Amino acid sequence: MNRICNLFGIRYPIIQGGMVWCSGWRLASAVSNAGGLGLLGAGSMHPETLIDHIHKMKAATDKPWGVNVPLMYPEIDRLMQILVSEGVKIVFTSAGSPKKYTPMLHEAGAVVAHVVSSSKFARKCEEAGVDAVVAEGFEAGGHNGREETTTLTLIPSVRRATSLPLLAAGGIGSGEAMLAAMALGAEGVQVGTLFALAGESSASEAFKQRCVALGEGDTMLCLKKLSPTRLIKNELFNRISEAEDRGASPDELKAILGTAASKRGIFEGDTDGGELEIGQVAASVGTIKPAAEIIEQLIKGYADAKAKLAETDF
Ligand SMILES: Cc1cc2nc3c(=O)[nH]c(=O)nc-3n(C[C@H](O)[C@H](O)[C@H](O)COP(=O)(O)O)c2cc1C
Repeated sequence: MNRICNLFGIRYPIIQGGMVWCSGWRLASAVSNAGGLGLLGAGSMHPETLIDHIHKMKAATDKPWGVNVPLMYPEIDRLMQILVSEGVKIVFTSAGSPKKYTPMLHEAGAVVAHVVSSSKFARKCEEAGVDAVVAEGFEAGGHNGREETTTLTLIPSVRRATSLPLLAAGGIGSGEAMLAAMALGAEGVQVGTLFALAGESSASEAFKQRCVALGEGDTMLCLKKLSPTRLIKNELFNRISEAEDRGASPDELKAILGTAASKRGIFEGDTDGGELEIGQVAASVGTIKPAAEIIEQLIKGYADAKAKLAETDF
């Protein structure tokens, strides 16, 4: 009996992480229809856009799905009201404390999961009453933990810290990695990078092609003075990195980033001047595939690796 599958009513314990400029209704519904849990990424949507995506999602799947809400969203109260009035049943919050909104979401009948990067915050999630926790390691794409704790280290530590259903995120790029995460105590995985590069992702083709051509070591964590973010080492990254080396202030860094840097990079395909958020595991993706094929490969890789390990002796 898998607690993640039970909690969300899904076939496979695979969550497609909410991702700015990538996870609209096309990607999220494809994942849900294939037996995982698709999440709309509200972080890059105006409230009206989110409502539109929720309506399209309702039409595109009768399977469970949810919405990811980064809690630093500027119109957060409005967004929460939308989730309640639209009857959204699953909410993954991130980037903030789940204390304020979890009771309200529970009252509206939603299941709440929260993303953390340390066992200290996992314990706080338990105190806040969330239903599941996503522990996201340093390998992950997008905004990241300040302490640089890797998935391999984080999962057992969070497992010891809380009895909540636990999802591992960060560097899950294959069924073998999924099996490893489950061996460490996770009960499922949240996958970002693989799905950001799926055919149904709303990221631009230029961004996807740049990502699938990456090699090991081509992304790096930066912007610790603002919000630690893993980025591809492009022209913008080089300018940020140079500024950070000479001790640039947060305001200087903001000026270098400019406005809507991730929209420019991910959505509009400015692969030199935009902010290109993607995880380390992009280096192993190779080609753009439909979301259903990604899920199929994860499940097959997981089962094959499990069988192979069972045959192996020391
Ligand atoms: C392009 C991109 C955008 C992301 N945006 C968000 C976001 O808006 N909210 C969030 O909670 N996580 C965000 N993430 C993190 C993912 O939801 C997921 O936890 C992470 O990508 C997992 O690690 P992986 O990239 O190694 O698979 C983003 C990741 C990527 C690659």
